[in-house]
Amino acid sequence: MMVKIRVTWFLFLAAMISLLAACDSAGDGSPMDGMDSGMMERHMAPIPPEYADLTNPISADAASLARGQALYEANCATCHGDDGEGDGPAAGGLEPPPAPIAHTAQMLSDAYLFYRISEGGSIAPFNSAMPAFEGNLDEQERWEVINYVRSLGGDMMGNDMMGGNMIMGGPGFLLFAGIIAAVVLVVIWLVRRTSGHNQAAESPLEILKRRYARGEIDAEHYEAMKRELEEE
Ligand code: HEC
Repeated sequence: MMVKIRVTWFLFLAAMISLLAACDSAGDGSPMDGMDSGMMERHMAPIPPEYADLTNPISADAASLARGQALYEANCATCHGDDGEGDGPAAGGLEPPPAPIAHTAQMLSDAYLFYRISEGGSIAPFNSAMPAFEGNLDEQERWEVINYVRSLGGDMMGNDMMGGNMIMGGPGFLLFAGIIAAVVLVVIWLVRRTSGHNQAAESPLEILKRRYARGEIDAEHYEAMKRELEEE
């Protein structure tokens, strides 16, 4: 019994480790490729209290989007690219690379976006070339640029790679779900196999009883062998 529990634990740990490895490598060659490895950490960064509760007060109507577009093209496209894919002419060589904000902005809060555009990337955990715009763009302009960036995702993405929401849609998510399902299935299969093996590990007396029950040995042999076992 102890053995069984230990084996199950071992398999559980092994499964968790391979799951972590799978999460880690999900960036390679998957549709999430535009996401560099430090991006998760940046997206989890605490938002300073003065920004934390902000929501966009400017509705994303045509006029706002037009102003946002002009601001974006003048201030952001060199790095983030015309379509917000992170591939502008000045992107090359930047480490971390400019975020594909057409996509990431879909899942990031108003407060985070406004904070990042206001203060840029000069501090940890960002440590990036992202400039601070609080001196160049007033608050309304920052919100309008956010409206425009969000509209990029909506327009271009449609049913593209990641769907409207990177985390729950598209092949990136399916790939991830597939890996998890595969790991779970393998674990179930392994656990079943080991509990099968455990039957073979039952005590000699139990084996003897089973063989007798199946009629493989007669009563006389059974009694004799049982006595022998009990004397041991
Ligand atoms: C000099 C290049 C450069 C310019 C110009 C620039 N950015 Fe960035 N930006 C970056 C880099 C590099 C990152 C990724 C690292 C980081 O998050 O700090 C980034 C990150 C961001 C993020 C965070 C996205 C995320 O997924 O975490 C937002 C939002 C953003 N930029 C918006 C803008 C906007 C809006 C403008 C124009 C007003 C702009 N940026 C101009 C380089 C630039």
